[in-house]
Amino acid sequence: MINSKTKLIGLLGHPVAHSKSPIMHNSMFQALKLNYAYLAFDVEPKQLEEAVTAVKALHIRGLNVTIPHKVEIMPFLDEISEEARIIGAVNTVVNENGKLLGYNTDGEGYVRSLLEETGTTLIGKKVLVLGAGGAARAINYSLSKQPIRQLVIVNRDKEKADQMKNELKKQVEVGVAGYEELEEEIRKTDVIINTTSIGMFPHSHQSLIEKEWIEPRHLVSDIIYNPLATQLLQDAKEQGAVVHSGLGMFVYQGVLAFEKWTGITPDPNVMRESVLESFRKEDLDANR
Ligand code: ATR
Repeated sequence: MINSKTKLIGLLGHPVAHSKSPIMHNSMFQALKLNYAYLAFDVEPKQLEEAVTAVKALHIRGLNVTIPHKVEIMPFLDEISEEARIIGAVNTVVNENGKLLGYNTDGEGYVRSLLEETGTTLIGKKVLVLGAGGAARAINYSLSKQPIRQLVIVNRDKEKADQMKNELKKQVEVGVAGYEELEEEIRKTDVIINTTSIGMFPHSHQSLIEKEWIEPRHLVSDIIYNPLATQLLQDAKEQGAVVHSGLGMFVYQGVLAFEKWTGITPDPNVMRESVLESFRKEDLDANR
């Protein structure tokens, strides 16, 4: 129930109309009977600073930050966590008595969901990451803290992959490869993670990996969650590999943000179910 004591959490993005974060967090607030509400705010880039000032003036308790504000919001915050600083982007803000603290829960959210949903330990594994953009930065940073054997970054723009390697090589053994070496690299790897946008709706039939390259011993993960089963994941499943869908990263980055705003650990299953329910409703509406 919303009343004069309700604490507000906002999403700052542009656009935000299709975000599933409001549904996911409001479902959890209701399930736990917490007096919080989550609203999406469509903020144009030129008004980002004003929006952040308003967060303080209105005593908004916290934020999620999404495209295109994750990097640009950083100078307007009072403190940035070490993780967010190294990743170079913020997706979560807590308003602690007028001080805005910035965090990044994307990388840790991804790794938590990978561990919990597939049961892998990542110990001694060789991990291949496709892509070297913003999502890969967060994921690779968190992977570098895991007991993996090696990380191999495969990107179209090899310079970007080399730069990422330089940032990570103190933490973990890192290799870099181009797409021409992908088949060979896949033969040598245990875990395959797609962080590129290839396979995302409406180009749902695209994949950077040939189906035949995938073996049953592989763990194949895609951070895309629209569609829930990308071409890559469908192929991997048919080849007998263990698969991990992008919905997990979305849910767990939300779980970690929720903990920071409220101090309470939410149930990932309730959050996931609320998103799936919303997808099912959209499908019904689309077919009506
Ligand atoms: P995000 O924040 O989602 O990671 P991004 O920073 O724009 O988005 O990164 C997109 C990633 O997808 C990049 O690694 C990009 O490769 P380049 O760095 O070479 O541009 C990758 N990507 C996008 N389109 C691609 C394509 N058609 N083929 C291969 N990789 C592609």
